[in-house]
Amino acid sequence: MITGKYPSLRLRRNRKQSWSRKLIQENTLSPNDFILPIFLTEGLNKRQEISSMPGVYRYTINRLNQIVDKALKLGIPMIALFPKTKNSKKDELGTESLNENNLVCKALQEIKKRYKNQIGIMCDVALDPYTSHGHDGLVKSNTILNDETIEVLINQSLLQAEMGCDVLAPSDMMDGRIGKIRKALDKNKLQNVQILSYAAKYASSFYGPFRDAVGSKSTLKGDKKTYQMDFRNSDEALREVTLDIKEGADMVMVKPGMPYLDIIKSIKEKFKIPVFAYQVSGEYSLMENAINKNLVNRDAVYESLVAFKRAGANAIVSYYADRIDKIIK
Ligand code: PBG
Repeated sequence: MITGKYPSLRLRRNRKQSWSRKLIQENTLSPNDFILPIFLTEGLNKRQEISSMPGVYRYTINRLNQIVDKALKLGIPMIALFPKTKNSKKDELGTESLNENNLVCKALQEIKKRYKNQIGIMCDVALDPYTSHGHDGLVKSNTILNDETIEVLINQSLLQAEMGCDVLAPSDMMDGRIGKIRKALDKNKLQNVQILSYAAKYASSFYGPFRDAVGSKSTLKGDKKTYQMDFRNSDEALREVTLDIKEGADMVMVKPGMPYLDIIKSIKEKFKIPVFAYQVSGEYSLMENAINKNLVNRDAVYESLVAFKRAGANAIVSYYADRIDKIIK
């Protein structure tokens, strides 16, 4: 019970000295709390800055070790791979997603060969980096097909798992995909591959810079509101999570992050399952641009990240993860 009364109780007493403030801290951050997203691009010897995300780069396969070494040295447990596929390789069906020589597959093999199991690798399961229309699923007369899409996602999952992916992260929001992917993995002796479901993923304007980074911004036709969630809803997020847990999700993601702390908190309280938060590209770019313009102090980054822990997140996907040493200090 929370109780007490002024003047015998003065909460400022505990805040008076720095040593005392340290003792009463409820939440802290460590590199263990982070997942680092890495953008992949084709070619050789390239590290391209993404103009809408200052400080974030795309790497060619032969330069990947630069960023993976950094993640390892910092003590970050997992990276997440996102490919920028050439427009010439995109088609209506997202065929490139099933090419065993696509960017993600090549990166998986490279990283597993070099680093073994020193660091976890997570891959999105969705078709948007590969489709000419930019949608996460197959489209027929302006409708995103659910069950037909899942059939492709199953194959994408199996391929990525066979190439060395540790954690499959379906980010497509099709109904029923977690159960079907789990079943296919188990049938193919891939029962140890984990599933992190983007269970509560909202149709959000905060994804803009990411779509720029993976090259789907100009190609996206329409919006994703028929599969991603309405940001006015929270009960619906709990229903999504319930289904995904029943279907076999090992962990769930809430996305975007900061505007959805209430969702993180209620999922954690109700389900006691590992909950991850995704501090998405738009959150990153807003903050980074404001800091570069001296509108807010760089300490805002630390504050934004601790907020996820306070809300109950176990880990955070953040484009700041590669600089976490400086942020924590
Ligand atoms: C694609 C996907 C998106 C993000 C991660 N996976 C974008 C989208 O759904 O359009 C967004 C990440 C970010 O904005 O940082 N399924």
